[in-house]
Amino acid sequence: MIILSLGGTFMLKVRIANDGDKEYFIKDYLARYGNDTELAEKHALVCINVHRTILLVNDEEIIGSVTWAIREGVKAGLVVIFQMSIAKEVNRGKGYGSTLVKHCINDIETFYGFKGHDLRRIFIVIHEENLAARNIYKNNGFRVVSELKDHLGKGMKALVYAKDYF
Ligand SMILES: CC(C)(COP(=O)(O)OP(=O)(O)OC[C@H]1O[C@@H](n2cnc3c(N)ncnc32)[C@H](O)[C@@H]1OP(=O)(O)O)[C@@H](O)C(=O)NCCC(=O)NCCS
Repeated sequence: MIILSLGGTFMLKVRIANDGDKEYFIKDYLARYGNDTELAEKHALVCINVHRTILLVNDEEIIGSVTWAIREGVKAGLVVIFQMSIAKEVNRGKGYGSTLVKHCINDIETFYGFKGHDLRRIFIVIHEENLAARNIYKNNGFRVVSELKDHLGKGMKALVYAKDYF
């Protein structure tokens, strides 16, 4: 666990998600994607037990999360960031997303170093209108490598951002 700051009465920390965080993922999924609790439970399982999720927490609550996954086996050096969320609107635009992504990149790099394999590329798909997410990744060394037309619907473009290590 990394303690980030002591701000007034609460303390921000970064840590890896564990089984005790299941309810957070279920609630966040339901709030974002509707009322399918079976899928929400599976989402929690995937974020906690299958892949790796970095959480930003204060004393009382989880502020946000970002999850990354190995693609094509660890030797390929390919990682996708497949979900990121600052759960409450009131917490957005305060730099928490940026903080999470910095720690996520650090976690990925440390993991590959520990495993003894080269990291080649981290990538993420971001909808064109999501300026906050695009800013975060651009500021952390990601660039647009491809465009996905009509991705979430007709006329709705998504961008593939990648951070390359080769
Ligand atoms: C996208 C999200 C994770 C961003 O987190 P955040 O904590 O709100 O973002 P930050 O405060 O760290 O801001 C990141 C950057 O975007 C800018 N920004 C923030 N909100 C913005 C907005 N609404 N429009 C344009 N730029 C914005 C900030 O100025 C900052 O840029 P800077 O460092 O160059 O000043 C968050 O808004 C969220 O959870 N959204 C809903 C889920 C989602 O879209 N997930 C991402 C999927 S890829």
